[in-house]
Amino acid sequence: MPDALRIYIETYGCQMNEYDSELVKSLLSGAGHSLAANEHDAEIILLNTCAIRENAHSKIYARLQQLKALKAKKSYRVSVGILGCMAQNLRDDLLDTHHEIDFIAGPDSYRELPDLIGRSRKTGEKGRALALSRTETYSGVDPIRSGGVNAWIAVMRGCDNMCSFCVVPYTRGRERSRDPKGVLAEVESLAEAGYKQVTLLGQNVNSYRIGPFGFAELVEAVAGVPGIERVRFTSPHPKDFPESLLEVIARHPNVCSHIHLPLQAGSNRVLDLMKRTYTIEEFEDLVAKMRSTIPGVAISTDVIVGFPTETDEEFEDTYRAMERVRFDFAFIFKYSERHGTYAAKKLPDDVAPEKKTERIVRLVDLQKRITGEINKTYVGSTVEVLVEEEPEKYPGHWSGRTDTFKNTIFPGEGCKIGEIVRVEIERSRGSALFGRAVGRAAEREKRASAAG
Ligand code: 5AD
Ligand code: SF4
Repeated sequence: MPDALRIYIETYGCQMNEYDSELVKSLLSGAGHSLAANEHDAEIILLNTCAIRENAHSKIYARLQQLKALKAKKSYRVSVGILGCMAQNLRDDLLDTHHEIDFIAGPDSYRELPDLIGRSRKTGEKGRALALSRTETYSGVDPIRSGGVNAWIAVMRGCDNMCSFCVVPYTRGRERSRDPKGVLAEVESLAEAGYKQVTLLGQNVNSYRIGPFGFAELVEAVAGVPGIERVRFTSPHPKDFPESLLEVIARHPNVCSHIHLPLQAGSNRVLDLMKRTYTIEEFEDLVAKMRSTIPGVAISTDVIVGFPTETDEEFEDTYRAMERVRFDFAFIFKYSERHGTYAAKKLPDDVAPEKKTERIVRLVDLQKRITGEINKTYVGSTVEVLVEEEPEKYPGHWSGRTDTFKNTIFPGEGCKIGEIVRVEIERSRGSALFGRAVGRAAEREKRASAAG
């Protein structure tokens, strides 16, 4: 048994990384270590990193500067480990250029962490664990979650899509799905532990498959676990979105009416260069099918501006597509060249930075207007909100999400975190809805009747 050490872990990037940090906490606790409340009290500081855009890297470099100073100041030995996508992406370059890093481990190598830490402390070895696996799903590792109403649960890992801009296939490897029995057992124990919502995660979540058991079957099975009031999932790819999944969402009132459907671009030439494998027409047909199958469904998206060779007219195609589709909200990014990707190898990053800024500003403005207009249509209606917290900004209020994922804020006494409250919406501002509580909810009845 190695010496017990106090470990602090900080997470950057996506929900999958949040979940992975929970796995890492479990693996390290299992090896006899304990969790520190903050970096000042820790002997091991782990940064679970992201590589999706250059600014994800920049954040970590800035943080490493601070940790270097912290290491020098402490009277006891502090070790710093870099986990996750940036470790996998930069590999030895990271250790060679940042001497304050003691070891690195990629997303498929967390079982090796206790050993890496042990060797680092014993011999000073700068260890690296970077093998990508075709099978690792961390089955049997019970994540240490931080509580709250939502539990993340990764049902598949990796991505085989190879979108030309994206580093994820290189940092997280090939697709693999978790055994549904293990997923369901985990969801059952989450329900017993009082979690009201589970969010099923995967880089390409609708590619989930174990034999004949696909993602729609998995969502349906999870929705059937007693006590789970809400099921969400992220992120699906438009190319293999099964109609049966839409029917599952429509049929099960506890499967939320919100779909995050990354568009990326509105021009067919750009979509083709991105290797997205759908046209804008096919994307819009899918959106129409979603809206007719699930009345009131909210759809959000991701968009990239300034992809290599994107012309002004092609950007306008994206602008017009967003005007036509009217997403509930959108994450909009400037293209950022990522080492190792097809786009980095074959396409020039030739859209000037000012152009990228101009384009992102226009899309953000457009989306703000659309989000505001959609949210206004909620005024006067009564929605069901899963209470998540008492927001710091609004003392005496509660906040939570509608099943369409709208952040909703309302005053009230006697509410409890984790319960579903009926809220009459009085106004909307920015991306938030404001209203008053009018009772407790019968969430399950709602869409069941809508679906007939
Ligand atoms: N540059 C900018 N945005 C990117 N994304 C992925 N890779 C890049 C990149 N190289 C965006 C995509 C994806 C979201 C998670 O991040 O829109 O859907
Ligand atoms: Fe970042 Fe993508 Fe890795 Fe998530 S999977 S941490 S978004 S690079």
